[in-house]
Amino acid sequence: MKPKVRKSIFTYSAVLFLFGCSGNKLTNKPMIETEKKSISAKVENLLTKMTIEEKVGQMNQYNGFWDVTGPVPEDDTSQLKLEHLKKGWVGSMLNVRGTENVRGVQKVAVEESRLGIPLIIGFDVIHGYKTLSPIPLAEAASWDLKAIEKSARTAAIEASAEGINWTFAPMVDISRDARWGRVMEGAGEDPYLGSKIATARVNGFQGDDLSKPNTIIACAKHFAAYGFSEAGKEYNTVDIGKSTLYNIVLPPFKAAAEANVKTFMNSFNELNGVPVTGSSFLQREILKGKWNFDGFVVSDWASINELIFWGHAKDKKEAAKIAATAGSDMDMEGNVYIKELAQLVKDGIVKEEILDDAVRRILTVKHELGLFDDPYKYCDAENEKEQIGNQTHHDAVLDMAKKSIVLLKNDGNLLPLKKENQKIALIGPLANDKNSPLGSWRIASDDNTAVSVYEGMKKYKGNSLSFEKGIDLIEGNVAFTQEVKINTTLNTSEINKAIAIAKNADVVVMVLGEHGFQSGEGRSRTEIGLPGLQQQLLEKVYEVNKNIVLVLNNGRPLAIEWADKNIPAIVEGWQLGTQTGHAIAEVLYGDYNPSGKLPMTFPRNVGQVPIYYNYKSTGRPNKEPHVFWSHYIDTENSPLYPFGHGLSYSTFKYDNFTIHGKNFSANDTIKVTVDITNTGDYDGKEVAQLYIRDLFASVTRPVKELKGFELVPLKSGETKTIEFKLSKNELGFYNNNGDFIIESGDFEVFVGGSSNTIFKSKLTVI
Ligand code: BGC
Repeated sequence: MKPKVRKSIFTYSAVLFLFGCSGNKLTNKPMIETEKKSISAKVENLLTKMTIEEKVGQMNQYNGFWDVTGPVPEDDTSQLKLEHLKKGWVGSMLNVRGTENVRGVQKVAVEESRLGIPLIIGFDVIHGYKTLSPIPLAEAASWDLKAIEKSARTAAIEASAEGINWTFAPMVDISRDARWGRVMEGAGEDPYLGSKIATARVNGFQGDDLSKPNTIIACAKHFAAYGFSEAGKEYNTVDIGKSTLYNIVLPPFKAAAEANVKTFMNSFNELNGVPVTGSSFLQREILKGKWNFDGFVVSDWASINELIFWGHAKDKKEAAKIAATAGSDMDMEGNVYIKELAQLVKDGIVKEEILDDAVRRILTVKHELGLFDDPYKYCDAENEKEQIGNQTHHDAVLDMAKKSIVLLKNDGNLLPLKKENQKIALIGPLANDKNSPLGSWRIASDDNTAVSVYEGMKKYKGNSLSFEKGIDLIEGNVAFTQEVKINTTLNTSEINKAIAIAKNADVVVMVLGEHGFQSGEGRSRTEIGLPGLQQQLLEKVYEVNKNIVLVLNNGRPLAIEWADKNIPAIVEGWQLGTQTGHAIAEVLYGDYNPSGKLPMTFPRNVGQVPIYYNYKSTGRPNKEPHVFWSHYIDTENSPLYPFGHGLSYSTFKYDNFTIHGKNFSANDTIKVTVDITNTGDYDGKEVAQLYIRDLFASVTRPVKELKGFELVPLKSGETKTIEFKLSKNELGFYNNNGDFIIESGDFEVFVGGSSNTIFKSKLTVI
């Protein structure tokens, strides 16, 4: 493998020119027949016409000639890819974007290949496309399923206008380890919230009708357990038990399958000794067997090839055999199927039915997308101009950004800031950064296009606002494929300028955290405090002015125990995408009342990781006068901020918590109600959360499990009664055979505004 290279942009015509062909030379071959048969009949008919090589071709996905999101194979040449396109040996391309480029490659596939089968065009539309939404972890903090669905819809509209019809999202990997860089791309640590968000995102991308030109197919990734990489180290071994696999890891994938997601992506990790790309257990037995998934599975970038490095396959031939047999239907940029699979079939080592099954799935999805009817339906240059970066998309991502912000702490109601006659000092290396807030997955966006916090705050003109960065967070510029270099050189004059404005201010707003390229793929960390010189800067400013509002910009939970102890107000501002600065300024000034809640636990220090709210009791859970109980001797067991935590400028009171009934049979639906009152001065929204605990079970259950939530808008003084429903879906669990069961016995039920709630009652299943 060659190292990843920086993205390079050629136009399609330039690529064709390089290899001596042009669009004009393409012959106008008739498209595949469009008689009114069912999709399945059409697919079967096409299958009968295909050679083994053409079948393998459908299972082959090449990276385009432009952007690169993984290591480039050594024998990868644009010349070869073009030849294969013409032969019909390519089923899909990724990282091809722009109507001109997509039309170009599609034209070769459709008009020059023998059978003219259209390509599916994939791209990582992870948190927006050109106009960027908050990173997925931030969106999850909104707990607002409608908003999340809309965000995916907006991204699909923009991406599809550039020719893309398949996104490699949502990532539905649960993770409990903030060291892992890709926690930014998921929905956090909880399988219930994760499942709801998976459904919302799939619905948003795929819309109500896949044949429309602005809906795109989604991809539930990475199947499975990638988020449990040992020690949070990227691409690492995963070794977890069945209970965790069935109850924590798989539910969001199952939810995506039930939402009719069209594709799954497998993963780079191994699971209990078997690299998942070669796992029949996951792909055939569970996904295509038990769950009856009828879409197709794409490998992760060259993950079939990686079976060799894992020591699972001795060469590419064996890797191809293992992966195809295990149910990996398409090889993403691995060059393994295209080289090996046809011969393996001819030699009788891989059955042709395996190819037929994969190709059937791929062709069916192409039909559902309407690509056989019109392969250029995503290539409307006029629509592209209208859609890309338009105001509607900016409005949508701003709305999502505000909803994603979490108020972690607000002692003495330092926030919201007064709008007039205040001297505000804005300090920090991220305060005027227009690049970092774009986050990690932003290949289709332009660098330095985010609204910075400084720009956002400047809109409020009633105060005097001064800005100093104090320090630099990173050295130089950084790109998607590169390591970030953290700056460790203190520039005394810069820091003194920051201290000077702090001394003189009524309130200091400090914007600190991680650079957008410190989280994401390939970006695990062993320290999860404030990187570089930021802690020093924070403490120096604190020495001269204690009235500090700390705004965090980060892609993972951070361990900020000192800040929590000393800084009166802390706002979790994540990386909120293109409109970051406007969203944060509106929250700081109280024009938007924050309602986000953490989708992932914040630890006190990295030694507590993995830390999560739905842990098991252990046999020695209680504090004892001796040392022999489950604890650390150097820190508390509790996290810094628990899952589900988030404040508002208002306050909410819970009353009249009622479980309607006492004893229930396994088939009953149980009604639970609670009254919530906004007892503060601001209108606001509260995420009411319901947790259960199954007190005794044949397989131990967590001390708390989220089983319901509702985002409740409440005007100041208003009360609403909220109703939750509990049935066997919520009260049951997976045993170690992977069967979903419900056992009789006692359950505790908790309701409140975070996983720390103690407002509880009991029910019994008889
Ligand atoms: C990532 C996937 C991504 C793919 C294509 C891989 O490195 O793990 O999540 O979809 O690249 O860019």
